[in-house]
Amino acid sequence: MTQLHFPPDFLWGAATSSYQIEGAAAEDGRGASIWDEFCKRQGAIADGSNGDVACDHYHRYEEDLDILSRLGAGAYRFSVAWPRVLPGGAGAVNRAGLEFYDRLVDACLARRLEPWLTLYHWDLPQSLEKDLGGWRSRKTADAFANYAEVVVRRLGDRVRSWCTFNELPCIADFGYQDGIHAPGACEPEGVVRQVIHNLLVAHGMSVQAIRAAAPGEVRIGLVHNPWLPEPLTDSAPDVEAAKLEFYRRNAWMLDPVFCGKYPTDELQALGTDAPTVLSGDMQLIAQPLDWFGLNIYNCHQVIRTGSPPLDYEPDYPRTAMDWPITPDALYWASRFMNEVFSPPAIYITENGCAVNADPGPDGAVIDLARIAYLRQHLSGLSRAVSENYPVKGWFAWSLLDNFEWQFGYTKRFGLVHVDYATQRRTPKLSAAWLAECIRLNQMG
Ligand code: FCB
Repeated sequence: MTQLHFPPDFLWGAATSSYQIEGAAAEDGRGASIWDEFCKRQGAIADGSNGDVACDHYHRYEEDLDILSRLGAGAYRFSVAWPRVLPGGAGAVNRAGLEFYDRLVDACLARRLEPWLTLYHWDLPQSLEKDLGGWRSRKTADAFANYAEVVVRRLGDRVRSWCTFNELPCIADFGYQDGIHAPGACEPEGVVRQVIHNLLVAHGMSVQAIRAAAPGEVRIGLVHNPWLPEPLTDSAPDVEAAKLEFYRRNAWMLDPVFCGKYPTDELQALGTDAPTVLSGDMQLIAQPLDWFGLNIYNCHQVIRTGSPPLDYEPDYPRTAMDWPITPDALYWASRFMNEVFSPPAIYITENGCAVNADPGPDGAVIDLARIAYLRQHLSGLSRAVSENYPVKGWFAWSLLDNFEWQFGYTKRFGLVHVDYATQRRTPKLSAAWLAECIRLNQMG
């Protein structure tokens, strides 16, 4: 059997985010975030829960990092909660909040885990939503650049890998258009496009702020969840058609980042719904990046030349999220991203699946479905690596079972099972499987 090797310097890690795991919502001066507020809404969260306690990572981070380090991982991707650092979004810095991330970063380094820091994984300070209108206002972008500077001044001597935003499409579409994520707004097209523009500007401004304030060498990236097609066959026409569709569906957010312009046709078609763009904005947005992160869970449609895009039928195999299992997703994502937008380096910053396996009578959590998913997806990734697409690392989503946004605690994405009543952690069988994969640096 062919051995699927990864390069010797391939980076293996796991990812989490602040609101999903930290808990300690009212501790050490943390301010409220839009998620604290959104969770109070009747019916917003499937199980009526919130992130008040979550996985209590705020107090248990050492135990969690020990587990990650035992997997043999080289990196921990986490996010900073803006309202912990600046409880009002701007103004006074909360020392105790920054100190938590200080301890977290040191705890990573002590275990030889490279800290990968994301500045925004969706927990906007509630005061900015209330007072400024959140991302509808450009002033929120100014506040974000200031927040980035505060964090990089404190942690930039030890954190090299910085990410500005996690998944702009989810922030804008789920939060401000569909109302299924905080702040739960259903705005018209023109407002949503302005939200996207303000986010892009905030990204550009923060890249500049990080580079200007960093005491040491930094590598800055953006983490995105592209709309992802897969070709029906590997034939050149199907692949070309899929690639074109990849460009068409992702151009609105990625052309500004990589080419400093909005796609002309789409911009014209928007008419009065087009965003207000100030002079210099597009150059600001197109700051050179050191890497680009892809969060990939599945392909979205199948492309066949000469036919409309095909949807996965109801009987198609799916995960507990009801997302289709498309084994070649990491291959096509890496290839299309490289061929269409050509970032200098690609990292898979999230990949994994929800499997609702409970501990058996002996306490063990047997999640063979996750192992099957990871085996297939990592095989696709190793194909991308072997064809020389510049994929440099992979992060599991997620280290721990956690608060899965509008699904509350009903979906378990972790390599490690969390008993929310006792906060007991149990590494699942998939964790042992992944540790072996990391140890051998290969699939096969
Ligand atoms: C991604 C999010 C992450 C988690 C996974 C399942 O879109 O970045 O927080 O919810 O999906």
